[in-house]
Amino acid sequence: MSLYDQRFVLFSGKGGVGKTVISSAFALSCARRGERTLLMELNVNDKVSSFFGSSRVGTDITEVDENLFAVNVTPQAALREYGIMILKVKLIYKAVFENRIIDSFLRSIPGLNDLLMLGKAYFHATERNADGSYVWDKVVVDAPATGHGLFFLQIPSVITGFIRSGHMFEEAERIQALLKDTSQTSINLVTLPEEMPVNETLMMQKELKSRMGLEVGAFIGNAIYPVIFSEKERAWIEKMREAYESGDAETNPDSEEYDATPGLLDAAAFRSQRVEMQQEYMKRLEDEVDKPLYKIPFHFSTRLTFQGIAKIADELDAQITADDESAKRSAS
Ligand SMILES: Nc1ncnc2c1ncn2[C@@H]1O[C@H](COP(=O)(O)OP(=O)(O)OP(=O)(O)O)[C@@H](O)[C@H]1O
Ligand SMILES: [Mg+2]
Repeated sequence: MSLYDQRFVLFSGKGGVGKTVISSAFALSCARRGERTLLMELNVNDKVSSFFGSSRVGTDITEVDENLFAVNVTPQAALREYGIMILKVKLIYKAVFENRIIDSFLRSIPGLNDLLMLGKAYFHATERNADGSYVWDKVVVDAPATGHGLFFLQIPSVITGFIRSGHMFEEAERIQALLKDTSQTSINLVTLPEEMPVNETLMMQKELKSRMGLEVGAFIGNAIYPVIFSEKERAWIEKMREAYESGDAETNPDSEEYDATPGLLDAAAFRSQRVEMQQEYMKRLEDEVDKPLYKIPFHFSTRLTFQGIAKIADELDAQITADDESAKRSAS
């Protein structure tokens, strides 16, 4: 199975590892394949609009690029929609739900916020047109970070464990069935090639499996430094550093005022060490997981803009497509 095969695609991972970047890039690559795609942020400070140069993404679905739509779901908005869906009339909703007592009562139920947001994602993932076709070819969810992410995905099973019948039970059961259906849903983990994020990624994979019976679809190693020095060059760098340290190397012959070479050599050595460290963590991940592992380079710029996201979308697309082709070859 490749990342393109499912309709409902979620990304989680440790805080700050690039979940929003990867979700946005993946959604863009789906949209560029001609799929009508909905990218969902969940109750966060909207970042997607800064990637697509669009106006702020709020609780109403907005088009941010061709075939690509985004929404930032809040529990309040999800509850409002849900309430209106059930009560049909906005005025009645206002009277019932925008009542302060009801509001604080709802807020006091743990997990209700997450259920509402997951319910909204479920709604869009299964939303159909009058002719029976799906409204969205892809629903991409920028899911909460690891700990909260686990809780978020576990909500339906917690509910079905507590309540045995009724509307909420049925809704939770439907959501759970979709999450477990690997032909429709993939839960993917983004990580940086660093110790803590990799540890958390492996922990989350294990917990998803043991607590919920959920399999991870793919892993994305993000922000990998490109290798710039060959082994020979690195040996030369080390030799030169030693020569400078011992005073054997000649200082900058062009200037008596400065010599940047020792600093440049240190920087080059530091960068090489970082690359080596990252490779070790990627290797660890490769050894421990048996799912596709996509690799996205670090993009050196002060701030990721649309160009950066589009580049990452291309990098992801090339790897997913290569995966698809090799799967087809081995199947035939
Ligand atoms: N491949 C990359 N190259 C360069 N910068 C990157 C890359 N991926 C992410 N970043 C930068 O890293 C930072 C964190 O990325 P992002 O916001 O996507 O992480 P996140 O996992 O969604 O964070 P949070 O847990 O806070 O939601 C951002 O400033 C982003 O621009
Ligand atoms: Mg984010």
